[in-house]
Amino acid sequence: KPLVFSGVQPTGNLHLGNYLGAIRKFVALQEDNDCIYCVVDLHALTAQLVHEDMRNQIRSIAAAFIASGIDPKKHIVFNQSAVPQHSELAWIFNCVARIGWMERMTQFKDKAGGKNAEQVSLGLLAYPSLMAADILVYRATHVPVGDDQKQHLELTRDIAQKFNIDFGSHIRKAGTGVDIVVGEEPVHAYFPMVEPLIGGPAPRVMSLRDGTKKMSKSDASDLSRINLLDDADTISKKIRKAKTDPDALPSEAEGLKGRPEAENLVGIYAALSDKSKADILAEFGGQQFSVFKPALVDLAVNVLSPITDEMRRLMDDTSHIDAILRDGGERARARAEKTMKEVRDIIGFVQ
Ligand code: TYM
Repeated sequence: KPLVFSGVQPTGNLHLGNYLGAIRKFVALQEDNDCIYCVVDLHALTAQLVHEDMRNQIRSIAAAFIASGIDPKKHIVFNQSAVPQHSELAWIFNCVARIGWMERMTQFKDKAGGKNAEQVSLGLLAYPSLMAADILVYRATHVPVGDDQKQHLELTRDIAQKFNIDFGSHIRKAGTGVDIVVGEEPVHAYFPMVEPLIGGPAPRVMSLRDGTKKMSKSDASDLSRINLLDDADTISKKIRKAKTDPDALPSEAEGLKGRPEAENLVGIYAALSDKSKADILAEFGGQQFSVFKPALVDLAVNVLSPITDEMRRLMDDTSHIDAILRDGGERARARAEKTMKEVRDIIGFVQ
């Protein structure tokens, strides 16, 4: 069975972008894969060190996973800091990767841009190296994420490839590698080349106030996003106030070009109903937003409110969530340690 890994940071409100770009895909992938889903609490320290509500933030991401339908018995749900092997492998990857690779990341440039080096943590620069370790410490092959993580996953492949090449003869001697083909080249590899799973009608959900900006946890305007904990009235208000243009919806996807707000709302509708944009336009083409928006409100409330209710219920008694994380952490640790034993052996550490 393919091994799926993904992570979500416990920083601020989960929103519709996190749900459609990531969590909804996590749920769908459970059927045919072995899945590991992680609350990446160590990553949360990179942009801001001290969090007053860290424990509950971690629990609320785990609650969102469970409330959305992830089965923590069949699969693994845990928080990153519970498995120290992530940090151990990240250190090794810090020595594999080059500073230039990290400095080129657009997310790093967005977050660090305009600040001087005294104000930016070393962790923020090394962020993608820990992310590569998260995935590769399980030798996972498939990673469902939103479009904004694409570049980080390319870097994960670069790190895996450099490790495989640099330690090629050691991997052969240790007898732990497998033959894979990278491009045309046959390689005896220890770490696999991960495949990003980014597709679908809403790989990048945009702000409801500006169709050219990503929906984000950090946008100052709460009207720009739908939070997973918003109630039905709030969802309705935010969709009714969402920016649009004055034209009717087109009847084909081509007609969405140059209309970012219309494209975003149609993409959201399609993703929430597991259909394509073309299907939605076949239904709503020629209709005004005054017709489409109420339909979108109904759909969004129908899909999201059971999740919101269940998240709130789970957060009422944290002992259940804490037990899920503890159990997941234990199972994850056993699997990660198996990889690390082999990695220490490949490098030549005495153990
Ligand atoms: P994070 O916590 O910022 O976001 C979690 C997931 O939500 C997706 N996402 C979006 N998708 C569509 N539209 C949007 N507007 C939108 N905003 C966020 C993100 O792409 C992500 O999939 N670096 C990761 C966390 C991470 C990770 C990993 C992911 C750490 N280690 C290993 C995969 C594998 C992040 O910052 O996610």
